[in-house]
Amino acid sequence: LNIVHIAVEMAPIAKVGGLGDVVTSLSRAVQDAGHNVEVVLPKYDCLNYHYIHDLREVQAFHFGGTKVRVWNGKVEGLTVHFLEPENGMFWAGCIYGRRDDGARFGFFCHAALEFLRQSGKHVDILHCHDWSSAPVAWLFNEGYRLNNMHDARIVFSIHNLEFGAPLIGRAMANAHMATTVSPTYAIEVSGNGVIAPHLHKFHGIRNGIDSDIWDPYTDQFIPMAYNTENVTEGKRAAKEELRRRLGLRHDDRPMLGIITRLTAQKGIQLIKHGIYRTLERGGQVVLLGSAPDPRVQNDFVNLSNQLNQSHGDMARLCLSYDEPLSHLIYAACDFILIPSIFEPCGLTQLTAMRYGAIPVVRKTGGLNDTVFDVDHDQDRAKEQGLSVNGFSFESTDAAGLDYALNRAISAWYEARGWFEGLCRQVMEQDWTWNRPALDYIELYYGAKNKP
Ligand code: ADP
Ligand code: GLC
Repeated sequence: LNIVHIAVEMAPIAKVGGLGDVVTSLSRAVQDAGHNVEVVLPKYDCLNYHYIHDLREVQAFHFGGTKVRVWNGKVEGLTVHFLEPENGMFWAGCIYGRRDDGARFGFFCHAALEFLRQSGKHVDILHCHDWSSAPVAWLFNEGYRLNNMHDARIVFSIHNLEFGAPLIGRAMANAHMATTVSPTYAIEVSGNGVIAPHLHKFHGIRNGIDSDIWDPYTDQFIPMAYNTENVTEGKRAAKEELRRRLGLRHDDRPMLGIITRLTAQKGIQLIKHGIYRTLERGGQVVLLGSAPDPRVQNDFVNLSNQLNQSHGDMARLCLSYDEPLSHLIYAACDFILIPSIFEPCGLTQLTAMRYGAIPVVRKTGGLNDTVFDVDHDQDRAKEQGLSVNGFSFESTDAAGLDYALNRAISAWYEARGWFEGLCRQVMEQDWTWNRPALDYIELYYGAKNKP
């Protein structure tokens, strides 16, 4: 199959959240399975050029009153076509966050289809994502379906229904097939007005992680390579390195990590509560997070100052976006806390497990599909052919979180041998794209067979 993703994020060159990870890692997995996968992306001025190879300008066309330059490059082994409108709409120093985001991305989608039409490429699947490339679905039906792309079919993926629901609804109506990023989230949103009319073509396929990018055995950002054979030593070395870097006390205690965008979705109150509860129970805490909303960022700056005073060598809040540091935190931590209010899939719990960090999560969306509580989910795990792998809770109040966190920290202090066995066990679970990529390929063929 020839598959083209039209997207506005792509890791590691233009990543804001998990959407960027998924565009790259799903594409790589489908390409590895023998298909041709290409990505069309805006040429932002803030791309991380370090990760783009063989970048060259290849053509240009006039569209929508401006000249659009087309560049080709390789990112993580994938062919990427970058569109650069000369009117400068992507020279804004950011991916999102301008008042005209809707218009900019609408223009990009239209220009991407125009580029594909002019290129004469044979396309089987046009895969678009969330509100930002939703317009591809209806622009295709309205103007591009009958030329060289008459064989193409539209697959639309919802990563987060919270944003741009009207656009998502319109794409749902126009797409041949639609997905969201986990089975539980698919059920959770099935009653929503923009989804409900289209359930016959709507599928929940859980995300995976890229096992080359996230591998403690080859990771350049951690002090000691490890796998299941030496996980205890490997994680100890990472913990010492992280403590040294952040000025935290070196002694025998568990470390809890939080790596997240600081938004309401991620459970801000629960995050704060989890920090204090972990400290009370004798653990250390490292948070790596950035808030798009300046008020929330400010709030966490205050919390950080407070904690530096009250728990200087026990807790550190790193209020930035820092990919290399995130690798070290996954490797160093015993636990990763994800108390999301809702979570379409979530990638951090999957990465945590690959690094032998035990997830402590609220049971929602993809967290429910991937984390199986050690005390309560044996049967549910077995149905999936898995063993239990974490701690979870249901309610959105502090008591729920305490219940999971207390059990987690007690296990670390009181049953160390069992806990280390659990770390090895979760590292062996396969949360890569191996299985879900096959589901996508099947879905692509299903879309191909639609009129
Ligand atoms: P979302 O897309 O809702 O933010 P996901 O769990 O799907 O949530 O994806 C988040 C991704 O972003 C993960 O790869 C995580 O490691 C990364 N991430 C989040 N916050 C940061 C940060 N402050 N620094 C580095 N990486 C981060
Ligand atoms: C969204 C969701 C997150 C999901 C990611 C990738 O940002 O919030 O749960 O993992 O998209 O699909």
